[in-house]
Amino acid sequence: MFIGVTGYNHESSAALVDRNGVLIDFCREESLSRIKGDKSFPKRAINKILDSNNLEIKNVERVAFYERPLSAFLHIVKEASLHMPRSLDLLTHQFRNFNRSSVSCYLDFSKFFKGLETKLIYSDHHLSHTLNALAYSNSKKDICSVVVDGFGDRSTASISQIVDPTEINELWECPYPVSLGLFYSSITDYLGFAINEGEYKVMGLASFGNSNSKSAKLVRGLMDWDSTSNKMISDMSFFDYHLSTSNSFSSKLEDLLGPARNPFVQLNPQSSDFQRCADIARGAQDLTTYLIEKIFTHAHKISGSRRFLFSGGVSMNSASIDSLAQLPFIDEIIIPPSPGDAGCAIGAAYYCYIKSIPQSNLNISKPSLFPSIKEKRNYEFFTEKIISNEFNILERNADDAFFKAAELISAGEIIGTVLSSSETGPRALGNRSLICDGKNKDAVENLNTVIKDRSPFRPTAPAMRYEIAKKYYILRPEIIDCYKSMSATCKCLKDNVSLKFPTTHVDGTARIQIVENNSSLDKLFCKLEPLGIEILANSSLNVSGDPTCFDLVDGLMVCSRTKLRYLLTDLGLLKRKT
Ligand SMILES: [Fe+2]
Repeated sequence: MFIGVTGYNHESSAALVDRNGVLIDFCREESLSRIKGDKSFPKRAINKILDSNNLEIKNVERVAFYERPLSAFLHIVKEASLHMPRSLDLLTHQFRNFNRSSVSCYLDFSKFFKGLETKLIYSDHHLSHTLNALAYSNSKKDICSVVVDGFGDRSTASISQIVDPTEINELWECPYPVSLGLFYSSITDYLGFAINEGEYKVMGLASFGNSNSKSAKLVRGLMDWDSTSNKMISDMSFFDYHLSTSNSFSSKLEDLLGPARNPFVQLNPQSSDFQRCADIARGAQDLTTYLIEKIFTHAHKISGSRRFLFSGGVSMNSASIDSLAQLPFIDEIIIPPSPGDAGCAIGAAYYCYIKSIPQSNLNISKPSLFPSIKEKRNYEFFTEKIISNEFNILERNADDAFFKAAELISAGEIIGTVLSSSETGPRALGNRSLICDGKNKDAVENLNTVIKDRSPFRPTAPAMRYEIAKKYYILRPEIIDCYKSMSATCKCLKDNVSLKFPTTHVDGTARIQIVENNSSLDKLFCKLEPLGIEILANSSLNVSGDPTCFDLVDGLMVCSRTKLRYLLTDLGLLKRKT
């Protein structure tokens, strides 16, 4: 057995791969600690995957950390030291927190999992991204990997040629501090949203903006592609993320775009500052799409490949993928369901596997979108107590529960789901979801505002079967797998009724989910389609700001904290008593 681990900088997680190359388990630390974006050493996640799979430390052959900690530390210090005294704050922070950074990974393993530290190896950050993406590709050979993120242990973007899993050659890199990911985070911060969390809001806001506005044009000028050197370039004087622990952008950006938005004031389409913010978001989105396309064009030029893996935090920019897929040299783009740093645990686990198994025996199986198949289902006493005190079980039999849930959805109700194993990625795909009739405007609005308290400019994703999706949306075969994990938006067909669906965004796009055969939502559609429901609105089951629910207790807590009344679970369909 092989374990991959991420932590300290972004979301912590752990993954388990067996000697047959199968991803057995994956868990985010935030799922268990209930701290959104938890980046501490993932001791709960490691414990969970060991416990759920009846493993002891002696059963683990190797464990890999997803980056080279000292390299990341030195790159940040080296860059900051060039800008003294402005960077004094960052340098002081780096050295004061040296023991709490990822360089203490070895010590944390020896402290919490005695014996595992002797089996610890380190994978290159972008190699971890690449191997995570490679696992989800049907073909494991002769494909090009593009990684674009905030910052790895050396670079902020890279292109690699995959000859086979044992021979991955890096062809190009963008060195820190020029970073498309950190640019987008800085604009997220400027617009008053939390970094690593509010990027989705910027993407949703961009649809209200005007590409020809002055603000959008100014933002587009902040970065560019130099076609002589084939590098991304940026005027770093507008940014502080490489100099400061507290500021991502400099006062010069405010001189250019006006004052940063107050994060404590809610932004909605009626706000006086809404259009300016939307135009700035539009500029950031346009620039991101432009630079991603430049990187892919260069990747094609230097690798000759027409098939690509795309990972790193920037690959979660689902609004860019549709136009990327239209580039003439693209045959296929694979984006893993968890393309950010949390998913690097999967890549790191496969790094152990590749280092440990003879090349002739390597066989990396395409993982399930819901990998934790061995999760224990022994609901404990207090869970049953909560259910008996607070809920009625309407139907216990799974088939009857799904049928009753379909009837309720048809009547305009909103249902929460806690079914089987949770999703690998950040997007709920039906097992930890809030769902309602995707064509029922009132139900979708209730889901967004009454239950979720979402920003009014963020659209809700529609989920459906492939045959239904073809009737309403322009689907691109190059990214067909991306629709299964909600990794790409698509346009509604021209003059199509879907333009009026409540799940369609203001720009006529939707971040659709095509449900996988035999998944929970696919089974639910067996009951829904005879009732005339062919599209579900699908959002993650959580209260705004919390991590997505992980287990049944989390789902019950959402019911107690919101107006959600129904929960479809492995125990049956539950209805809150009051
Ligand atoms: Fe990364």
